Amino acid sequence: MKRFSFSPASAGVATMTAAALVFTSQVSVPVLATAQTSPISRMVLQPGSKESSVIVSWRTQGPADKEVLEVTGPDGAQTFEAEEKDGGAIAYVSNYATATGLKENTEYTYRVGSEEGGWSEPETFNTGSFGQDWSFVTVSDAQIGVDADIKGQTEQWNKTIGNAVADAPQASMIWSLGDQVEGWGATIAQYDGYFSSPEIRNIPTNALPGNHETYPSDLVMKHYDEHFINPNQEPDLRDFYFERNNVLFLGLDTNASSDADIERHAEFMRKTIENRGAFNDWIIVGMHHAFFSQGTHYTDGDVTKLREKLAPVMSELDVDAVLSGHDHIYTRTHLMNGLEPVKAPAKRGDVLAPNDGEVLYITTTSAGGGKFYDFQGEDGKKYPNARMENMDPALPHESTAIWRQDYDEDYMVVDVTGDELTFRTYNANNPNLVDKVTLKNNDHAIADPREEKPTTPAPATTTEVVTTEVPTTVTTTETKEVPTTVTTTLPAEKTTKTVTSMVPTTEEKTITTKVPTTITTTKTAEPSEPSDPSKPAKPGEPAKPDENCDEGSAGASASSAGSSDGSSDDSCSSSRGGMIGFLLGAISALIVAGGVAALDPNSPVRNNIQSMLDSLYRMYTRLF
Ligand SMILES: [Fe+2]
Repeated sequence: MKRFSFSPASAGVATMTAAALVFTSQVSVPVLATAQTSPISRMVLQPGSKESSVIVSWRTQGPADKEVLEVTGPDGAQTFEAEEKDGGAIAYVSNYATATGLKENTEYTYRVGSEEGGWSEPETFNTGSFGQDWSFVTVSDAQIGVDADIKGQTEQWNKTIGNAVADAPQASMIWSLGDQVEGWGATIAQYDGYFSSPEIRNIPTNALPGNHETYPSDLVMKHYDEHFINPNQEPDLRDFYFERNNVLFLGLDTNASSDADIERHAEFMRKTIENRGAFNDWIIVGMHHAFFSQGTHYTDGDVTKLREKLAPVMSELDVDAVLSGHDHIYTRTHLMNGLEPVKAPAKRGDVLAPNDGEVLYITTTSAGGGKFYDFQGEDGKKYPNARMENMDPALPHESTAIWRQDYDEDYMVVDVTGDELTFRTYNANNPNLVDKVTLKNNDHAIADPREEKPTTPAPATTTEVVTTEVPTTVTTTETKEVPTTVTTTLPAEKTTKTVTSMVPTTEEKTITTKVPTTITTTKTAEPSEPSDPSKPAKPGEPAKPDENCDEGSAGASASSAGSSDGSSDDSCSSSRGGMIGFLLGAISALIVAGGVAALDPNSPVRNNIQSMLDSLYRMYTRLF
């Protein structure tokens, strides 16, 4: 159900303290009219290489040593050292830091800065589920600054993101598919408008480079490089990847579109998907330039070349979906096998079951509303205000299944499960569903042998051998001569006479008693919690010893020395108490047995009992 309510995250943006708030007439969305305030500005939360990590970047007024990211969760606060990211932009310093070892479905508070340079206001985020079922939001082309309307597009950008997050509060990531700013004009003010969105400090947001990040000079891309820290980025190409739950995301910088660049894109995708693809249920590629759309860029030279050379690679690598912007008109393709559509009747709500090599391409429209492109047909002509329902079926491209141009901003919510990937695209300003399409999975993930898989957590147990002394029952057989009565038959003259008398004889007597013995058992115990969240304990990894308990355990049984179970003080005391109880019981049993044995000073049982009492006494002295 689509909702239009102001997100709680938007309401508590402490970084807006000196900023003027502007409210639209339709939805109460606050919009910054100025940049974030000093000493920290342009702070943005971003996804790390895995769902258990986040990256935060920020800008300070000047150089400051020991800038850190401080993250506070249920286990306390941790600090992560910052690095400067100097992309060549001037007049300020950009820093970033990576927090690792985060736990799923956990609320964290964070701030950045230093004692010397000052601190940001605290912000929060929730890691969300690390399982197979989760959601993320995509937007594209905020393009703040078109026609110099920075204020208007900043307002709309905030409104689009605010409504998207209100509609999908479970979303744990935002993907911005390029052209965050116009570039031409007041670049710094444009970026300030983009960073004014409060949601990008509460939900990890990754941003792709678009063509407008290159206009009018590389200064705009320098800002991009300093603020957006892409995980696993290639050394000299802005292609990168990260994994989140059960999805492998690849980002391509399609500004690089020479023949050599395109070959490098292909190499990067082959390498990444070969290494990581099998360990994820889904492979999604994001790039700014759309291979297939009904916008005017469809026939651009760079787009045509990218499409013809890389669409076959997408199919070769079994990519599931490709998400793009750039054309400012919503377009969903048929399943594409390379450049060939798998044509089928299309409607909103389609559920598609792709075969190997069949890829879905979706192009989203503008999130900032600076401009929209008219439908452009196969004939190369533009058709303003055209609707798909009334369009001559010969005019859309063969690849197009669904398209819509309502000259209004959109956002897309992507719902992920292990079996289905559903893309819901909404008008950002009203409750209208633009399109919905679901992909069925035909290629589930396999377990990753190199690391813990959050979707299939390893059994939370470790196995260790514990040696201890326990009471047991032994049987001793004693042979003893005792007086007894026998009957003897004596011969008599011509008669038989029976005489009964007492004679010594031998009797076997069995004495059963309890004696201490040593046995070895194997037990399964919960692994200890790692003290360093950045280094979570893995199956088979020894847990940290509990020094206080270890000493007592070793004393209780010499054969168990060196083993440590990481148990708490309570369990340690409980173990000692159990041993004391055993000793008292064993001693009592031996005293009783000893009383029986005392009947015969030469009994071997008596000697054994004395030896056992000595052993118990030694155990007692070790315990105390
Ligand atoms: Fe663009």
